[in-house]
Amino acid sequence: MTLTHPTVERLLAIMDQKHHWAYPSLTRPGLSRAQLLVHFRHEYAVYVRDFPVLLARCLGQVPDLIDVRRALAENLYEEQTGGLSKSAPHPELFLRMMEGLGYARSQFDDADLHPAARSYKEWLFDTAAKGPWQAAAALLTIFVEGSVNERAELAGTYQRPRGDAAVARHALVVHYGCPPEAMQLVRAHGDVEGGHRGDAWKILLDNTTDPELENTIVSTCMDALVRWHRYRDGVAERMGLERDGATTAPPPAVMKRTG
Ligand SMILES: [Fe+2]
Repeated sequence: MTLTHPTVERLLAIMDQKHHWAYPSLTRPGLSRAQLLVHFRHEYAVYVRDFPVLLARCLGQVPDLIDVRRALAENLYEEQTGGLSKSAPHPELFLRMMEGLGYARSQFDDADLHPAARSYKEWLFDTAAKGPWQAAAALLTIFVEGSVNERAELAGTYQRPRGDAAVARHALVVHYGCPPEAMQLVRAHGDVEGGHRGDAWKILLDNTTDPELENTIVSTCMDALVRWHRYRDGVAERMGLERDGATTAPPPAVMKRTG
């Protein structure tokens, strides 16, 4: 796949910004159990628990395109059953990881979510079921499932850590005492997600031919980026973290539509 394709270029420019100033604090020691819980219960409620349903909403609006339907169905099958990675539903694997950290399942619900988290979640639900399906697919399979490493992954200069190595050097194991057996989610992602990333981009490029559609896809992902930053700001606020203006950039500004 070519990194110079105009649609790819515009989407990668968005993915390059899917980094939040509070992220580094999650990969080093120093957070309290209560702070970690704020982060993880938001992640679970906002998109982890319902990600399979979001994929289903997107799949539900795809016309008779067998390759697209199959790729989304495979992704959905893995997320909701763990069937491809021979594990378990990803939301369940997430909860096992939380139990490994010493939390109870009952702590993971929709209570007390930050308003920006709730609004991002509601917007994801609406947008996943709204046409054009290409924008919904890009939102879920590129923006939500992808990371700031997307460009390097496509270029082949970054490889997501896999298997035992990924688990052994994960911050939750190294700094927060999560037993490696509770980290099956990381293992499952390493096993299957590489294939999904390739499918996601192929689907998009094969089915985005006119510039107007490209614009809709890009503006949906731009909107997602801004909403995601507001959500992450809200979580950081609840965790009591403060941005250091000297060393971190402010989140992207909301661009007003002109004309
Ligand atoms: Fe997953």
